[in-house]
Amino acid sequence: MRFDVLTLFPELIQSHMDFSIMKRAEESGVIDVVTHNPRDYTLDKHKKVDDTPYGGGAGMVLMPQPYVDCYESVNKLAGQSITLMMTPQGEPFTDKISNELAQYDQIIILCGHYEGFDERIREIIKPREISIGDFVLTGGELPALCVIDSIARKIEGTLGKIESAHDDSFSDGLLEYPQYTKPREYRGLKVPEVLLNGNHKLIDEFRLEQKIIRTKAKRPDLYEKYKTKETY
Ligand SMILES: C[S@@+](CC[C@H](N)C(=O)[O-])C[C@H]1O[C@@H](n2cnc3c(N)ncnc32)[C@H](O)[C@@H]1O
Repeated sequence: MRFDVLTLFPELIQSHMDFSIMKRAEESGVIDVVTHNPRDYTLDKHKKVDDTPYGGGAGMVLMPQPYVDCYESVNKLAGQSITLMMTPQGEPFTDKISNELAQYDQIIILCGHYEGFDERIREIIKPREISIGDFVLTGGELPALCVIDSIARKIEGTLGKIESAHDDSFSDGLLEYPQYTKPREYRGLKVPEVLLNGNHKLIDEFRLEQKIIRTKAKRPDLYEKYKTKETY
């Protein structure tokens, strides 16, 4: 899976790729994350990428020419390719969208900054618009990394065992069951006995029951969907 990220701050993207599971996934060739800087596509000597908004108002708006030229320079892979725009105005990102996007061969991601994109960038590129929540960040790099990281976990070879993603929260519409590791007792709190007896049928039953209990308590909205067999 190849990710092409259009960003004014490529180091922000690269810094996340330099550690842990993402680093391993890139080194082993499971994913490839390439950055492209719209600033390299400006036509003026000051490398200006933003300007004041027509009609007045605070902040600076990203100019269309550097973004569109940068986008058009990205090689679209012959297979399936999709373009995303990170914006608080987009559809809320979920595990379901992550699964859907994991089927593509290439994902091109536009990261905004300052006051965001000149509207004509949307009109020309026609990206799928994605938000990571109803709040506003200073730039699209953190949202892009959330999307990349979440999708990369779905691709075989990223996690040590692909099975380890199967039980994660949201995979079946429920939150994950409680997890325990050594020691068996800590500050008087004991690991539930059922997890220690090696009876996998009982363990599975216990875990499903716990998933339901905690989803009901923490995310009643998810539980309602689960009950009606609606997929998340
Ligand atoms: C300060 S924001 C611009 C917000 C824009 N003025 C608005 O109100 O819709 C700058 C950039 O950060 C990114 N961004 C901020 N919050 C985001 C969110 N919740 N989801 C996805 N991207 C976000 C987008 O790329 C956006 O262009």
